[in-house]
Amino acid sequence: MLKKITLLKLILMMQSFKAGFPQIRMRRLRKIKTLRNLIAEEHVDLSSLVMPLFVREGLIGREKIDSMPGQERLSIDELVKEVSNLLEVGVKSILLFGIPSRKDDYGSSAYSRDGVVQKAIREVKKNFGDDVLVISDICLCQYTSHGHCGIVVEKNGRKIVDNDTTLEVLSKIALSHAEAGVDIVAPSDMMDGRVGVIRRSLDEEGYTDVAIMSYSVKYASSLYGPFRDAAHSSPRFGDRRSYQMDPRNIREALREVELDIVEGVDIVMVKPASWYLDVISLVKKNFKIPLAAYSVSGEYTMIKLMAEKGLVDEKQAVWEQLHSIKRAGADIIITYYAKEYARWVKDGLIS
Ligand code: PBG
Ligand code: ZN
Repeated sequence: MLKKITLLKLILMMQSFKAGFPQIRMRRLRKIKTLRNLIAEEHVDLSSLVMPLFVREGLIGREKIDSMPGQERLSIDELVKEVSNLLEVGVKSILLFGIPSRKDDYGSSAYSRDGVVQKAIREVKKNFGDDVLVISDICLCQYTSHGHCGIVVEKNGRKIVDNDTTLEVLSKIALSHAEAGVDIVAPSDMMDGRVGVIRRSLDEEGYTDVAIMSYSVKYASSLYGPFRDAAHSSPRFGDRRSYQMDPRNIREALREVELDIVEGVDIVMVKPASWYLDVISLVKKNFKIPLAAYSVSGEYTMIKLMAEKGLVDEKQAVWEQLHSIKRAGADIIITYYAKEYARWVKDGLIS
């Protein structure tokens, strides 16, 4: 095989030498847009996009998020309107984050039957039924007074995020969302064993059809900065490095995904996306399971701020970012640009 290719190359080289110009011209297929579109290897389908939304308890109307220009916290009423706007432009999946009005050390408002996310799920499902796919984030950081993704206990005079106590709370949260009618639960806490525990409690309560999309590979990233401002979820002490992954590691990503699969996950996720394209690509190569990539708040705000300063063509930048994430191997892209991108596509402003 190798020999054949080399021989072919040689013949071609000799031919072009004889003719005095190269016969193979890569630029031929780049000449016009229709042709470029014809041979494009990747396409971003609107049905693969997921729009994250923030719903805030007690809020009336909408509230701008300073750290993420163009994004807003929503009341439940506004959330319903927003879902209708999304459906209109062709985005049919949402990822819900709740911002409660009450926090405590145990994050108990996260699993209350009348919590903000539970109410939001019910309201959205009541209005749109199966026209919209509702995914809910399962975590504690917006609900705990210390802002960590799990239950904090003191061990040998040191505060630690306790894995196994957290698991019980996570399954309570997942159950309360399932009860409200969610389609997919998405645990983002990075505790060990959470997928298995959540799967078992869902099954025991009869929610065998509620899927789990795990934040399987979640790095301890600086790119979450704008989100923590948006969701009021910054840790009050320390950082998340004892549970989220070290950005230097990639082998570990394969172990995380493998474990989630063993525990019964339905969709795996890599997060963040743009700085971790190698990870997306490796997970894609190694596992036959739907793969989501989360283009996080920092990725969004970077482009927004550059665009605001006139340093980048926003539409082109987003188009390039989304196609790169696809090219790396993501089936699903979670992005704060979902609505705007869909609108640009609908208005014929990008293709
Ligand atoms: C909470 C959570 C975070 C994000 C999603 N779920 C932040 C964090 O780990 O602090 C990040 C999303 C983003 O930056 O867009 N567990
Ligand atoms: Zn969290």
